[in-house]
Amino acid sequence: MINWYDDLPDIKPKYLAITKLIRSLIQEEKLLPGQRLPSERKLADTFKVDRSTVSRALSELSSVGLIIKKGGSGNFISQLPQIHSLPTKVNWNLFLENKKTTYSSYQSEITQARALNNDNLLDGAGNELPMELIPKLGSLQINWHNFLLAQKQSQDAGYLPLIETLGKIHEQKNQFKTDDQTLLITGGAQQSLLLVLRSLLQVGDSVAFAKPSYFNSSALFKTVGVRTFSIPLTPFGIDLDVLEDVILKHRIKLLILNPTFQNPTGEIISLEQRQRILKLCQDYQIAIIEDDVFGWLVDQKDEVPTFKSLAPENVIYISSLSKLLGSSTRIGWIVAPRAIGQRLLQVQKKLDIVPSMLAQVMANLALTDESFDSEIAGLKLELTKRRKNITQILHEYRSEWNFNSPKGGFYLWIKQTDPEIFEKLLKKNILVKPGPIYGTSRKDFRFNFANFDLDKQQQLRATLSKE
Ligand SMILES: Cc1ncc(COP(=O)(O)O)c(C=O)c1O
Repeated sequence: MINWYDDLPDIKPKYLAITKLIRSLIQEEKLLPGQRLPSERKLADTFKVDRSTVSRALSELSSVGLIIKKGGSGNFISQLPQIHSLPTKVNWNLFLENKKTTYSSYQSEITQARALNNDNLLDGAGNELPMELIPKLGSLQINWHNFLLAQKQSQDAGYLPLIETLGKIHEQKNQFKTDDQTLLITGGAQQSLLLVLRSLLQVGDSVAFAKPSYFNSSALFKTVGVRTFSIPLTPFGIDLDVLEDVILKHRIKLLILNPTFQNPTGEIISLEQRQRILKLCQDYQIAIIEDDVFGWLVDQKDEVPTFKSLAPENVIYISSLSKLLGSSTRIGWIVAPRAIGQRLLQVQKKLDIVPSMLAQVMANLALTDESFDSEIAGLKLELTKRRKNITQILHEYRSEWNFNSPKGGFYLWIKQTDPEIFEKLLKKNILVKPGPIYGTSRKDFRFNFANFDLDKQQQLRATLSKE
């Protein structure tokens, strides 16, 4: 016996409550296929609602095939067999399908190989430093009371002592002054880029970056609805003729560069090229985003003035602690001309992507630790040793692989002729990141040498010498 009125769910609007009730009666088989429903008028009386409310509910049920309206003879429960097998769960695959990227298959093979926890794995696919090379900064102590006090020193742009520390570091490294700029703290370089794109661009606007580039596989651009154009890197740097062409054809608004130890090539853009790029961008009123996440690792003798120092009012500078202290620190920052900085701060607040105060206080302790400078100096020396040894091994056993030995960073960008190289190296337990991730061919790949201590160097030598 159906208790039409008592079983009616207590939700509004009422027509939804009625559809819900009839759906569950069908599911519980209290209403069977072919069964006739009480008339609309009767149902309206029973539910104590207007007849139009019942009519709307029945129309909804009819539109999804759960009931059939038969002219003058009334409404019947549908005979459709799928009534019983109606999926009760949302099909999330429909949401996920169009979010798939072409890089995911490589990434999942890399993840799988790592999950096997194989001691013989020669992992050159990492994005950052291995744990053992991350600077050892002793114990960064702060008691809770002092942490609570520290929060009083926070501004919209972040934790003031951290802002001051970063300002000093840029000035001491002779990169640029931050006095007449806005320096704001973010949750990392990716987040900085998201903030800049969201704050300055409209859906459909265009940006350009190099090819190959780390930015090629970033989901950010799609997320904010921005079109991307890639400019080939030549042995002399970014191809300026193509850049000018693309600027003219596609009304580029921003040029995004990673000019020092570029990911993945490890190259540094020369001063002369920097000046030519700046001139071109000035001529066409294009802003530059300078992503300098590897800037920490450059030796003084190799340092080239930052874009920010060459044109402070035309460049938005981005950096983070990820390539030095690990990406889980989630601390980055932006240095932007004041007017832009204000906009960024507003959007950061609006989107509520304000970095944790705890992380900011810890970051400041790390950056002001007395062993910080000596640790970075030690890190650079170790990276140089690893780079030289790996370069030598590759030259010895894979002379057909072409690559430049960069001045620093932790990547080698290798070109060769076999499109199956990723799969072949994987079979030998060697992981690399293939070219398509960076927008180029399967014959190219990135190799992170930072992960190779003396043991791993020996293993690599032994593996490569086998054929
Ligand atoms: C050039 C470049 N920019 C930004 C990032 C992301 O940095 P973060 O971890 O600070 O978001 C990376 C990480 O690989 C990178 O290589």
